Amino acid sequence: MANKIIFPEGFMWGTATASYQIEGAWDKHGKGESIWDRFTHTQGNIKNNDTGDVADDHYRLWKKDIALMKRLGLKSYRFSISWPRILPAGRGKVNQKGLDFYSKLVDKLLEAGITPFVTLYHWDLPQALEDEGGWAVRSTAEAFADYANVVSRALGDRVKNWITHNEPAVVAWLGYETGVHAPGIKDHLKAMRAAHHLLLSHGMAVPVIRRNSPDAEVGITLNIGWKVPASISKMDRDIAQQDDGKWFRWFADPLYARGYPSDMVEYFTTQDALPNGLDFVEASDMDTIAVSTDFIGLNYYGRNVHRSNAPDNEPQLVFPKPKTLENWTEMDWENYPEGLTGVLGRVYFNYNPFKIYVTENGASYSTGPDGNGNVPDEHRTNYLRTHFAAAHRAIQAGVPLAGYFVWSLLDNFEWSFGYSQRFGIVWVDYETQKRTLKDSAKWYKKVIKKNGF
Ligand code: FCB
Repeated sequence: MANKIIFPEGFMWGTATASYQIEGAWDKHGKGESIWDRFTHTQGNIKNNDTGDVADDHYRLWKKDIALMKRLGLKSYRFSISWPRILPAGRGKVNQKGLDFYSKLVDKLLEAGITPFVTLYHWDLPQALEDEGGWAVRSTAEAFADYANVVSRALGDRVKNWITHNEPAVVAWLGYETGVHAPGIKDHLKAMRAAHHLLLSHGMAVPVIRRNSPDAEVGITLNIGWKVPASISKMDRDIAQQDDGKWFRWFADPLYARGYPSDMVEYFTTQDALPNGLDFVEASDMDTIAVSTDFIGLNYYGRNVHRSNAPDNEPQLVFPKPKTLENWTEMDWENYPEGLTGVLGRVYFNYNPFKIYVTENGASYSTGPDGNGNVPDEHRTNYLRTHFAAAHRAIQAGVPLAGYFVWSLLDNFEWSFGYSQRFGIVWVDYETQKRTLKDSAKWYKKVIKKNGF
């Protein structure tokens, strides 16, 4: 590459993980059952019936994992807290051992010079709360605010970066509409209610966190794809717009004080998802949700080309890339770095957040150790290099991007795909729990050191 790409000073290079995907120890030291424990323990929900019972055994190996992060020179580490480890019944009695685990983790990270970014909810709701209706009922939002209070009181003196939710769209639509994720419910209306209560719980938790951790920065993470119509036809444009509306604007618009987008209220009504309109929205909810935040986190993985198969459609103009391993990761997600420049620009210039973090970006490739103990995962390195460059172009265009968290530090439990998809820059041998730096990790280490490449 001709010109050097150098990032702004203090850029937060990091990696991201989530509690259920790495911790294991699902029933250790007083932890309560989560919806993911229940869901994975039910046969047929997950590829190969894999579970997170052991996962990366990070609950036991966390010190070693921090040593690995230190070796990579990471500036920051985004992890999530398991709600049922802290409040086994969802609310009420605190499990001190659970809090201690995260408190020690935070201390060790700080000792290693790594800034902790804490996500409060990365999908492992206490099963006890699901039994009362889960996110489809309002009381879960109240319970979330209480949980945020317990955690931010315990860690708020040291943790200065908080993310309330990870991808509420995925929680609502995959958890309560298609049922592909825990709790496995297939109900349009419950999904709409879940989406609302997730947003509401964010709005309720932000002031609580600020109170307990006064100089902290607080935000939320949304997933965003680069969604384009396959032609200029209205049919293709409508599908792209609806998909973006459902997965992004339905969440971003209320967070930025625009209320629920009217085109989508109409759309959901035609889908029979809102039989009684927005009757679950109470008077002050939209103000609560629109609470001011310090940043937005974006998780970006690729492009979706939207094509209607109506017979009188315009000829297609935009084609997905040819199916090679370089162009398509093993998740069958299109590798499309330009889309990252696009979404960063779109979100900044449209919603004007103070700051943006890429809270997740990465690629699934199963490349494993060769005979010499190296992991030559060049597709992942290429993916990261081109996406970092794409993010840099957004910075040059004026986007206040403050950091980048590679998904993921470790190979881990990839939800409904079980262990069949590997996103780590560190290889995990699930038999022995041995960790091996992949070539992408070694390359990332150099990028961090030079603050560019
Ligand atoms: C995101 C999730 C994360 C991981 C990646 C691949 O949607 O937030 O936990 O599964 O996808």
